[in-house]
Amino acid sequence: MCGIIGCVSSLQSNIPDGVEIMLGGLERLSYRGYDSAGIAVLEENRIKVIKRKGKVAPLAEEVKRVGLQSCIGIAHTRWATHGEPSDKNAHPHLDCKGHIACVHNGIIENYLPLRRHLQQQGHTLLSDTDSEVIVHLVEEHYTGNLEEAVREAIQRLIGSFALVALSQHHPHSLIVARKDCPLIIGCGQGGNFVASDIPVLLSYTKKFIILENGEMAKISVDGVSVSNFSGDKVSKDIQQIEWENGKVDKGGYSHFMLKEIEEQPKSILDTMRGRLNSDGLVKLEGIEFPAGFLSNLQRIYIVACGTAYHAAMIGEHIFEDLLRIPVEVDLASEFRYRNPILDKRSLVIAISQSGETADTLASIAEAQARGSRVLAIVNVVSSTMSRQADWTLHTRAGAEVAVASTKAFTAQQIALFLLALRFSQHAGRIAGGIMEDIAHSLMALPAQVQSILDNSKPVLELCRWLASKDTGNNSGFRFNDCFFIGRGLDDPIAREGALKLREISYINAVAYAAGELKHGNIALITPESPVIALLTQDRVRGKMVSNIMEVIARQAPVIAVAYEDDGQIAEVIPPIADLPSQIIRIPRTIAWLAPILASIPLQLIAYYTGINRGCDVDQPRNLAKSVTVE
Ligand code: M6R
Repeated sequence: MCGIIGCVSSLQSNIPDGVEIMLGGLERLSYRGYDSAGIAVLEENRIKVIKRKGKVAPLAEEVKRVGLQSCIGIAHTRWATHGEPSDKNAHPHLDCKGHIACVHNGIIENYLPLRRHLQQQGHTLLSDTDSEVIVHLVEEHYTGNLEEAVREAIQRLIGSFALVALSQHHPHSLIVARKDCPLIIGCGQGGNFVASDIPVLLSYTKKFIILENGEMAKISVDGVSVSNFSGDKVSKDIQQIEWENGKVDKGGYSHFMLKEIEEQPKSILDTMRGRLNSDGLVKLEGIEFPAGFLSNLQRIYIVACGTAYHAAMIGEHIFEDLLRIPVEVDLASEFRYRNPILDKRSLVIAISQSGETADTLASIAEAQARGSRVLAIVNVVSSTMSRQADWTLHTRAGAEVAVASTKAFTAQQIALFLLALRFSQHAGRIAGGIMEDIAHSLMALPAQVQSILDNSKPVLELCRWLASKDTGNNSGFRFNDCFFIGRGLDDPIAREGALKLREISYINAVAYAAGELKHGNIALITPESPVIALLTQDRVRGKMVSNIMEVIARQAPVIAVAYEDDGQIAEVIPPIADLPSQIIRIPRTIAWLAPILASIPLQLIAYYTGINRGCDVDQPRNLAKSVTVE
């Protein structure tokens, strides 16, 4: 994954010191990884490198301590793929003489044979990374022209890369190249930049060149020249970007995650705004299909990863209910490798918060190559996915900074629902009266979400209980396992609740479709494994209650998420001695929208349990916000 930023400016320009720009940039790029960070600059025509394990702060401290300043340099924040997070494995990497430095985002799949070859040629590689081979290959091909050396080096790479090279023999330029990882060039006054995304540079310029796969560039103070990997010049437009800087802060909250959970009444409303009228008519800007496209549609695939995949599972139920067209949901990481049946009569819907997830991008490319059209549901407007898809429906959740996806998830559900309504209106499948009821339920959601947030006392009590200490237990905590169960549309929500709790609190939280319990999984149920049961789907309520009875019979403590008007559930669940309330209530809504309301307490459970267990909830261990390698 990893984030890259580089800068070439002149001392006379009004651009601040390059080091300051790059350190600020690394902070903003930390959503791409925060295992280690590093910077290389030219100081008195020599390359100086500082690298530190961990987030940007320790690097920034060291940079400040040594008083590093320069107007040309490259910097990197890493998410470890090959080699543990450590100072040694942090980028930038240097060639043997220390004259060339390189940062890399991506994976070099043939790094082992390249490494062996380089070692046989006498190169000394100091790290365990795949990336380090790049700078040594550049060294091997270097005969006085850095651009040519990079061009020749990348011909030998198999895999994905966005890379930037700096050499002390070429103190006024950087060489950059891109294949399957994003890289953009910012054109400023008195300086030019390169970075993994646009927002990181918006304080310095609004003019950008978007590099495409197979392109490289020489970036100097006074210009940028783009060429392809064969060396032919490529003429590129400079795009004027009108977005605001969009820098977000915690706004008084202790964590971004809590802020983002609490923003959901607004983000849900924003995602609907101007798209739904009170008769239930849906208008989606930019989503116009060619004549006959929808009537010829034979199959819909929905592809996504992680939380967005759970939104996709919800989408499957809704689309099949409303449209009666077969829908298949795939993990993007599996989709392209299973030879899916795709042609122009299939539509692929890709869902992503970041719009940069490598597996989802690869699925889009695969679908388009096989003749299918792709509609992306994306939160980040400037993302690669927004550009790559045939149509994009933006969720309007606003910037999501915490690694755990929360408000993007509920916005994705709204977007999917609006899309399904739009399709079924087009197909004439829904009667006017029903549409009005649905519109009414949709419009009630923001206030309902707010009421869940305002009445979270039972959740807070539950989280204290879930995170209670136990000195006799190796982990120091009483519970190390937790199960989530649900049926129908509660199944994806159970999975999402479990994912959220796992990633934030490190509790081994697992979800099962409740009917599957007795096919093996119930063997894990004990009095030490709380079970969180979801009860929002009336169609399967009776079966769900039977499954709850099965786990109660195995002495598992049961917590239920149920509607406010579900009086009976209190009679089913035995009290837990040291937990005042084990029923978490949500307002009633229609079955299709219940997952949105049920998501909220589960997000809060993850957040407060993580806090109570002393976890870094905004940046949990081993994770990155945006997963940009396959
Ligand atoms: O940016 P995307 O929505 O494509 O990201 C997909 C997943 O990486 C993401 O949802 C991940 O699972 C989150 N950390 C979950 O909270």
